[in-house]
Amino acid sequence: MKQENPALFIIFGGSGDLAHRKLYPALFNLYRNNYINKKFAVIGTARRDWSDDFFRDTVKESLKKFCEDEKMVQEFSSHFYYQSHDVNDSQHYITLKKLAQSLNDKYELEENRVYYMAIAPSLFGTVAGHIKSENLITDNGFNRLVIEKPFGHDFKSAKKLNDEISQTFDEEQIYRIDHYLGKEMVQNIPVLRFNNPVFNTIWNKDYISNVQITLAESLGVEERGGYYDGAGALRDMVQNHVMQILAQLTMEKPEEFTSQKVHQSKKELFASLKMLSSDEVDKNFVRGQYGVNLNQTQISYREGPNINPESQTETYVAGKIMFDNDTFRGVPFYVRTGKRLPEKSTRIDIVFKKDIKNIFTSLNESEIKENIFSIIIEPDQGYELLMNGTKVGMDFATDTFSMNFKRSAKELDKVPEAYERLMVNILDGDHTNFTHWDELSSTWKYIDVIRQKWDEEKEDFPNYRSGTFGPKKADDLLARDGNQWVFRG
Ligand SMILES: NC(=O)c1ccc[n+]([C@@H]2O[C@H](COP(=O)([O-])OP(=O)(O)OC[C@H]3O[C@@H](n4cnc5c(N)ncnc54)[C@H](OP(=O)(O)O)[C@@H]3O)[C@@H](O)[C@H]2O)c1
Repeated sequence: MKQENPALFIIFGGSGDLAHRKLYPALFNLYRNNYINKKFAVIGTARRDWSDDFFRDTVKESLKKFCEDEKMVQEFSSHFYYQSHDVNDSQHYITLKKLAQSLNDKYELEENRVYYMAIAPSLFGTVAGHIKSENLITDNGFNRLVIEKPFGHDFKSAKKLNDEISQTFDEEQIYRIDHYLGKEMVQNIPVLRFNNPVFNTIWNKDYISNVQITLAESLGVEERGGYYDGAGALRDMVQNHVMQILAQLTMEKPEEFTSQKVHQSKKELFASLKMLSSDEVDKNFVRGQYGVNLNQTQISYREGPNINPESQTETYVAGKIMFDNDTFRGVPFYVRTGKRLPEKSTRIDIVFKKDIKNIFTSLNESEIKENIFSIIIEPDQGYELLMNGTKVGMDFATDTFSMNFKRSAKELDKVPEAYERLMVNILDGDHTNFTHWDELSSTWKYIDVIRQKWDEEKEDFPNYRSGTFGPKKADDLLARDGNQWVFRG
């Protein structure tokens, strides 16, 4: 049996959507796989007045589709406790502290605590402040703070939030979740790059023509208009997930793959981001908002619930990001993300240069294609490599073919959820797959320039139909460089 890491999880927002959809199933899988077993307890807090039994029933409900073993679910949920708690009320932290202490003794938790912020970001600072002022921090065990996105809505607010939580927690105690970093294929990128000479040697400006990162969603904003209309795709996806995938692809090889060295490498990478001036934004970034689909069976973004009918919020972003460093100077990294695109897909397409001399005089040079290496992150997982060769037969004619590797359905079944991996990392005190403040501050500064420019000027929205790959301007962005999007569904 694995060595159990004893811990008390205090989940602020224990009655909310994130807790039920992601956190409880993730904790359950940790339990099922013996990462946590006997020495753990969970306190769920929120304002509503629930009993422990009622809370446990909601936890069981959230696990229904994952497990039919009622006894196991029953045992697991018996470790859950509920405390009605308004995060603004100091008195409630005193009650919370007493409950935490008694559970610490009951389950032998060695004073280890994970404070999980599954609440609105506006409350993060308040909770962190009270954890300090009401002395919830223990003397002997670990005290770790887990923070969900969004971490601020621009550099200034992110810094304010960071200053607030830093009053109570050191950087090493803070785990800022970017769940894309918990995904199997995203974690795989550095291993693929650094453990394969065949990639390691060509992963630079001498061989790479351009890189394309696509985070496409087929769904629209659905019921999340209240949050989304104040955020938009640039803040919701580009500042965090896209930038972190970009870092996995481009950071210099760390001396060792430890949290400290990886973050140092990412910090240096982001310091080399080629910042845009306000005048350069339109040439390098494109925004879009979805309208109805061709058959008019889907509503436009602006018609969705809790959305301003004249909203200027973008549901699509495409951009060209460049680095000013020796490895990637001059290589465009095209990124795009959007809602209501033809299919859900997260992938990276790396297009290699074609500057080879064709020595086969009988072959038509124009038929020789660029090598393209694709990393398929979801919903499938795998790799594709597009290569040049010859057709079968006597003609000695060119052909392109693709080498594919796809994880099987059986393997995909075993892939742990992003939250599960991240929870294990938190228990192990491993920061590698969490976002460091240095990275956040650089990426916010980069994004702020684009946001400010867009906020100054109105766009003629909607400018792409639901079910298409975004506005035409996103194709023009690449065409200006003589490139085109590889992935077209
Ligand atoms: N849901 C997701 O898939 C998702 C994904 C990524 C990030 N996030 C982030 O995760 C956080 C939670 O999101 P969510 O979707 O779970 O939100 P949610 O469903 O609205 O849940 C919010 C929780 O906070 C509690 N709460 C609200 N005000 C409170 C107060 N003053 N004192 C104590 N508790 C309070 C609510 O319960 P009461 O009303 O009973 O107090 C509820 O349990 C947010 O920061 C969000 O941005 C969510």
